[in-house]
Amino acid sequence: MHRLVLLVGILLLACQIQASEPAPPPPPQVPVSPDLMGSKLFEQTCAACHGPKGEGKDELRTPSIAHQPAYYIRNQLTSFRENRRGNDPSDPQGIMMAAIAKALQPAQVESVASHVESMPLVIPSVLTIEGADIKEGRYLFEMRCMECHRYNASGELAFGSPPLYGLQGWYLTAQLTKFKTGHRGTAKGDVNGAKMVFTSSFIENDQMLKDLVGYILSLNPIPENDPFIPLTATPPNSP
Ligand code: HEC
Ligand code: HEC
Repeated sequence: MHRLVLLVGILLLACQIQASEPAPPPPPQVPVSPDLMGSKLFEQTCAACHGPKGEGKDELRTPSIAHQPAYYIRNQLTSFRENRRGNDPSDPQGIMMAAIAKALQPAQVESVASHVESMPLVIPSVLTIEGADIKEGRYLFEMRCMECHRYNASGELAFGSPPLYGLQGWYLTAQLTKFKTGHRGTAKGDVNGAKMVFTSSFIENDQMLKDLVGYILSLNPIPENDPFIPLTATPPNSP
């Protein structure tokens, strides 16, 4: 029953995705068995879209989630489950992830969040954005973002803010745009998302967006030297 509901949902989604621009390929059909936990759940369900190392797949528009803190993953999965994120038909990626999150049992949310946190960080292979002024991006980041995401973008549990390193440039751009256009963070009760909706109103144009994303990408830590990354991370461009 569980599987059937999910598969039907995914087929419907594939149709919706085709109706929107630009059209990503339909998502893989992913079963969510209620007794899978932790690493097994990740390998058999999440990896199809987020990749075996949790590195994300550009072609499916999935973020690199490996090593995100459990508090943030739990918050996001709960937001997807409770219709605070991924509830807008013009946000096909959010809708796709919401369908998966809703198919999980509460205990599975907990166990997969801990597992993903324990996975080594994967740094995106592309760490630059054409036309970005990194100096300007740093200035903007220090003025508007650092107070919640910390100076090195490592995030802060107390604010519910995630680390921003590890994420692909296109994903950062897409999320900032979603906050700005109200596709994320505007649902009733989304206290953390609302902080970003407020902040993103300050990003006035594409150049500011590029500068910020360019600077955030430049913060990707060199794993061996960064005290904030306790686990071994995959260096850029490694297979
Ligand atoms: C059918 C494809 C698909 C599957 C399977 C899938 N995801 Fe996702 N996931 C996505 C997409 C697409 C996004 C990006 C949503 C957006 O753009 O807002 C996403 C986003 C996320 C996010 C938000 C990350 C962030 O930085 O805010 C988390 C956390 C996440 N997924 C965890 C998981 C976990 C855990 C599983 C396995 C239980 C899983 N996903 C399975 C497609 C998928
Ligand atoms: C008032 C605190 C606050 C400020 C200031 C702030 N953020 Fe955030 N940010 C958050 C919180 C909280 C979240 C998590 C939102 C959620 O739970 O959906 C977040 C999420 C994000 C995300 C989504 C990450 C993901 O994995 O999907 C991005 C990107 C981001 N912030 C970038 C920025 C940038 C760039 C700035 C400066 C222009 C900024 N933030 C300023 C609190 C803040």
